Amino acid sequence: MDFENLIFKREGNIGILSINRPKALNALNTQVLCELDKAIDMIENDEDIHILIITGEGRAFVAGADIAEMKEMNSKEARQFAKNGLGVFRKIELMEKPVIAAVNGFALGGGCELSMCCDIRIASEKAKFGQPEVGLGIIPGFAGTQRLARLVGMGRAKELIFTSDMIDANEAYRIGLVNKVVPQDELMNEAIALANKILSKGQIAVRFAKTSINRGMETDIETGMAIERDLFGLCFATEDQKEGMGAFLEKRSPNYKLR
Ligand code: HXC
Repeated sequence: MDFENLIFKREGNIGILSINRPKALNALNTQVLCELDKAIDMIENDEDIHILIITGEGRAFVAGADIAEMKEMNSKEARQFAKNGLGVFRKIELMEKPVIAAVNGFALGGGCELSMCCDIRIASEKAKFGQPEVGLGIIPGFAGTQRLARLVGMGRAKELIFTSDMIDANEAYRIGLVNKVVPQDELMNEAIALANKILSKGQIAVRFAKTSINRGMETDIETGMAIERDLFGLCFATEDQKEGMGAFLEKRSPNYKLR
């Protein structure tokens, strides 16, 4: 994968995608969004990658959408720009494979929104989160008003969005925006260790669980339970279910094959 603003690496079955536009603190412009969209398609279709970590190069995760590019947009262009980002972030959220955000620094505006479309967020002690849009005379446009409220509750989301306050990693942890806070130099090791722990489980089951949680959270509980029931049933059509249960009964480690 050859991109101007992204770096892609593999560690076994883990894909590591890094936003690489450090001179603008990894701000998301149209080109970065377009590259991200292509990279996600490639990663989702690559059978050797089972889990993805998204991070940023330099001192930012992503400091937001590109303000210089947005400044001169008219309503139609801004709406299209929002639509592009919403589409890419939704694609990440709905990837079959789990996605971990390793938040290494500023995660502001579109950067906070990018972290929120990932399944799990690990933050370094240097990470800072916020939705500063109203300070720029706009509102969040890559689903910040939606995902932040769902993640931390409406009251905290409104406070963060109305005040534009930047919060540190510990406060983000306290309000449930991140799963874990770790020292900066341990961030990638922690993210990889978490990825490996998930990879040691049955990956079809992990993917079904992701779908069930995502779809269930977006619907009523009856429909959510029906989705869970059907995917639960479908697990029993996999070799991994036989292997997982067989290994338990034979008191050995399972050897999952993603089948
Ligand atoms: C464009 C940005 C940028 C951004 C930083 N830069 N954030 N460029 N868009 N979002 C650029 C700066 O202009 C500067 O370029 C360089 O990166 C370094 O930034 P500094 O401001 O000099 O660094 P520092 O003083 O350390 O401050 C860091 C910061 C600040 C606190 C993160 O850069 C900042 O407040 N950035 C904007 C954050 C923001 O408002 N994000 C939300 C955007 S709106 P030069 O060339 O001067 O070196 C958004 C909407 C999403 O995300 C939805 C859209 C549909």
